[in-house]
Amino acid sequence: MGTDFPVFVVCVATIGSRFVSSAAAKVILFGEHAVVYGQPAIAMPISSLRAYAEVESTNTPFQIIAQDLNNKIITFEGDDPLSQVVRLALEAMNVPTPDVSIVVRSDIPIASGLGSGAAISTAIIRCLLEYFDVVIPREAINEIVYEVEKIHHGTPSGIDNTVIVYEQAIYYVRDNPIEMIGIQNQVQLVVADTGTTALTKPAVADVRRLYEKEENIKQVIEDIGTIASDAKQAMQSGNNDLLGNLMLKNHEFLQKLTVSSDELDRLVDAAMSAGAKGAKLSGGGRGGNMIALVDNNSSENVIEVLKSAGAKRVFETTLEKTS
Ligand code: MEV
Repeated sequence: MGTDFPVFVVCVATIGSRFVSSAAAKVILFGEHAVVYGQPAIAMPISSLRAYAEVESTNTPFQIIAQDLNNKIITFEGDDPLSQVVRLALEAMNVPTPDVSIVVRSDIPIASGLGSGAAISTAIIRCLLEYFDVVIPREAINEIVYEVEKIHHGTPSGIDNTVIVYEQAIYYVRDNPIEMIGIQNQVQLVVADTGTTALTKPAVADVRRLYEKEENIKQVIEDIGTIASDAKQAMQSGNNDLLGNLMLKNHEFLQKLTVSSDELDRLVDAAMSAGAKGAKLSGGGRGGNMIALVDNNSSENVIEVLKSAGAKRVFETTLEKTS
C-alpha cells in the first residue's frame, strides 16, 4: 500500500567536510599567439590530465599547501597568484575567509603549454564552491581565473582560462561570445613534451616586440587566424587530412614568430616521418609540448618515434565527434 505523505529527501552540505575538486589541462590546436591580437583560435581540454584541490577544515588560519612545490605554504594575504584566486573567489561567493587548508597538487607539467596555472586556479575555486555549497555562474569563475592569468602572463587572450573552465572544445575570439565546435570526425592527438619548460609571458612579450617592429608580422598573425578559421570548417566537415596540413602550416608561421625551438621542430619532423597527418607546437612555445594528429593506424608508431626523438613524456588524447 502506498503512503499519502510525500517523502522529501533533503541534502545539507556540511561545512567542515573534506572536498576534492579538479580541473583539466588544455591544448591549443590552432591560433596561439595570434589569438592575443584578436584572431580566432581553437583549444580543447585534456580531461585525463588534471590539477586537484582538496579543502579540509582546520583550526589554524587559512592556508594553501602546494604539494608539488615542496609543500610551500601560501597564506590568504600573500602576494602569490593563488592567494589572489582565493580572495577573488570568496568575494564573488560573498563568504568570510574560512579556517581551512587547501592542498593543491597537479599532474599537469608546469610551464609546458598545457594550462597548469589556469587549471590550478579553477580547481581551487571549485573546491571552495563545494565547501560552502555555493553556486556562482561559470562566467564569474572564468573572470576570476582570467584575472589571475594576468599575473602569470601579462596580457593573456583568455583562451586558456575559458577552455579549462568550460572544459569543452572552443573556437575562441577574444572579447567575443564563446563558440563550441561540432566535430564530424574524431580528432586523435599525440601530445609530446620536449622536457624544456618555458614561460608564456616572455614569449608573448617577444612576439609583441616583433609585431611592433616588423611590418610582415601583422600578415603572419592574420594568416594564423585564417588557418584557425579554415581548421574549424575542416573539423566540422571531418576532413582530418586538411586539418593535418593546416597544423603544419600553423607551425611554420609560429616559427616565423620565433616561438618554436630546435626540440619542438625536431619532434614535429619526427611525428611527420612516423605517419602523423600534421603536427605543431602547442601553447606559448619555446619548449613545452607539441601535438601530432594521428589515426588508429599511425598512433603507435608516432608515439614510439617521438620517444626515440627525445620526447620526455608522450600521451594520447582524443576529441570525440559530436555529430
Ligand atoms: C598560451 O597558452 C597561449 C598564448 O596564445 C597566450 C594567450 O593566448 O594568452 C601564447
